[in-house]
Amino acid sequence: MPQHKDRVVLAYSGGLDTSVAIGWIGEQTGMEVVTVAVDLGQGGEDLETVRQRALDCGAVEAYVADARDEFASEYCMPQLQSGGLYMDAYPLISAISRPAIVKHLVTAAREFGATVVAHGCTGKGNDQVRFENGITSLAPDLKCLAPVRDLAMTREFSINYANKHNLPIETTHHNPFSIDQNVWGRAIETGFLEDIWNGPTKDVYNYTDDPTYPPLPDEVVITFEKGIPVAIDGNAVSPLQAIQEMNRRAGAQGIGRIDIVEDRLVGIKSREIYEAPGAMALHVAHKELENVTLDREQARFKRTVSDRWSDLVYEGQWFSPLKRSLDCFIRDTQEYVSGDIRMVMHGGRATVTGRRSESSLYDFNLATYDEGDSYNQSNAKGFIEIFGLTSQLAAARDVKFGKGEAMGKSKLG
Ligand code: ARG
Repeated sequence: MPQHKDRVVLAYSGGLDTSVAIGWIGEQTGMEVVTVAVDLGQGGEDLETVRQRALDCGAVEAYVADARDEFASEYCMPQLQSGGLYMDAYPLISAISRPAIVKHLVTAAREFGATVVAHGCTGKGNDQVRFENGITSLAPDLKCLAPVRDLAMTREFSINYANKHNLPIETTHHNPFSIDQNVWGRAIETGFLEDIWNGPTKDVYNYTDDPTYPPLPDEVVITFEKGIPVAIDGNAVSPLQAIQEMNRRAGAQGIGRIDIVEDRLVGIKSREIYEAPGAMALHVAHKELENVTLDREQARFKRTVSDRWSDLVYEGQWFSPLKRSLDCFIRDTQEYVSGDIRMVMHGGRATVTGRRSESSLYDFNLATYDEGDSYNQSNAKGFIEIFGLTSQLAAARDVKFGKGEAMGKSKLG
C-alpha cells in the first residue's frame, strides 16, 4: 500500500468556513484532510450531501455519523439528570455537543491514521477549549489545529477563497447571526444582539413560537425511569424521541427562550439567546419528580454537585476525572427518580399539576391536616428545643455582653 501523506481530521459542518479550511489546511501544512460530520439532530442538510461537499472541496476521506440517539442518551440525558444550568439559566446546548463530536473525531483519527485534529472555532469562545481539551483528554498524542484562529482565516478570506477555487458553497447569503444548534436546543449570537439593549427580533427564533400568542394549553404526562423520560402520554419513547416530541409541543407554547449575558471561560461577557423548549420542559418535570423522590439531604447536596457539574461541562472538562466522579454521584441519586409528572404547557411556561410515583417519599398520612394523621405533633416540641439549642446559647451570651440582636435577660451567669 502506498504511504499516504500525514493526515489531519477536520470537524466539518458543511458551512463556508470549514469548507474553505479543507483546502487551506492542505496548502498551509501539506497534510491530507479527512472531514468528520456528525449529526446531533441539528436539522438542515442530510449527511450524504455534506459528505459529497467535503469530497468536492478536496477532502481525501469524508466520515459521517448519525449520532442523534447517542447524543440524546449519553449527553442530553446526563445533563437532564444533573439538573444543572450554567449561570442558573443555560442548559449547556453547545457545551455537551462538543464532547459528542470529539468522540467521533478521535475515532476517525484512529481509523484514517491522522495525527492532527482541526476545528473551525475562533479564539474567542468556549468551543475551542471544549474541542481541544476533549481531544487531548481522549488521545494525548493528537495535536490540535484551529485554522480560523491559527491560520488567519477571516470571513473575507473565506469568501474570496471559496470564489477563487469555485467551491460548491454559497458565499453571498450571509447570516447575521452565529448559530449553533442540535436536538437539545439552539444558541444564537452576534450581529445586532451584541448591543445588549437590543431586544431579539422574531427571526432569531426557530425552535419556539412566540409565547405571547399561544395555542390552547397542552397537558402532558411524562413518565420517568431513573431520571430518564421513557413515555409521553403513555406512549413509550426513546430519549431522542422524548426530546423531539417535547421540542415540538413545548416549542409551540414558546417555552424555553433564554436571553442572558454570559460569562465565557476566556473572560469575555457575551450576549446569548437560547431556545431549548424540550430541554427546559423536561427539566421542570424532572425537578419536580426529584422533589417527590429524593431524600432531603441528598437533594441539598445534589444542588452543589450540579452547580459544579455545569461549570465543568461549560468549561470543556467533560472527560475530566472530577466530572466522571460527579457523574457517579448523580447517577446514584437517580435510583428512585421514577414515576409520572403531569404538566400544563401554556404561554411560555410549563407548570406541574400532578405527580405520582411508586418510589415516592411523600407520605399522605404524615402530611395531612385531616383524618388519618399519623404524625405525633408532641414530638415537635422537644425537637425544636434541641434543634435551637446552639442559637439559644449564643443569644444568651449576646445578651450578657449587650451585643447582637438578642433582647432581654441572659440565662447565663
Ligand atoms: N456561548 C454558548 C456556549 O459557549 C454558545 C456557543 C455557541 N457556539 C457557536 N459557535 N455559536 O456554550
